[in-house]
Amino acid sequence: MVEMDVNGCRVLKGFLDLKAQQMIVADIRRVVETAPLFSPLTPWGKPMSVGMSSAGKYGWYTDKTGYRYEAKHPNGSPWPDIPASVIEVWSSVVTNLRLPDCCLINYYKKAAKMGLHQDKDEQDFSWPVLSISLGDTGVFRVGGTSRKNPTQSVNLESGDVAILGGNARLAYHGIDRIKFGSSTLLNGGGRLNLTLRVVD
Ligand code: SIN
Ligand code: MN
Repeated sequence: MVEMDVNGCRVLKGFLDLKAQQMIVADIRRVVETAPLFSPLTPWGKPMSVGMSSAGKYGWYTDKTGYRYEAKHPNGSPWPDIPASVIEVWSSVVTNLRLPDCCLINYYKKAAKMGLHQDKDEQDFSWPVLSISLGDTGVFRVGGTSRKNPTQSVNLESGDVAILGGNARLAYHGIDRIKFGSSTLLNGGGRLNLTLRVVD
């Protein structure tokens, strides 16, 4: 495994082997059977291009009222538990003193992307955000804590883990594009990204 530093974001290239990736994908498929993917509306009223769902105590949500965490899926059911295969990544990279409250599931099809933003809807920024990439490669851009800071890009490939913590916890980040068809992990292609956060 190779570790990279991208503007303070730690990227653990090839952290998960194929078997671990397949196990997580199978577990996430079960999660989205009870908590189906949806495309939430941004506060500006536009549907996001990614398909989203969550597992854990809270799910991240957005609509015209703004960004927030919700204890239930829009269908009214509590979010499923975060699979043990996913928690294990957090425990081995971050800590097992505190486990994440939310596993946000983002599914990117061919044309999906995510604009530069900060993850700042959580209460305590001393906990890092950990991201797991599965399937097609995503071109990830990381800047600083101001939108004006210079950015660096890195390809997040299947099995890579990225950590936004410390001085980079509030770094602007986003996905410019998906290299569709670059991986055979997911039937039908696309990219699955899981982000783990401590919320309260
Ligand atoms: C996110 O910032 O919520 C997702 C980032 C990614 O897809 O890698
Ligand atoms: Mn984010």
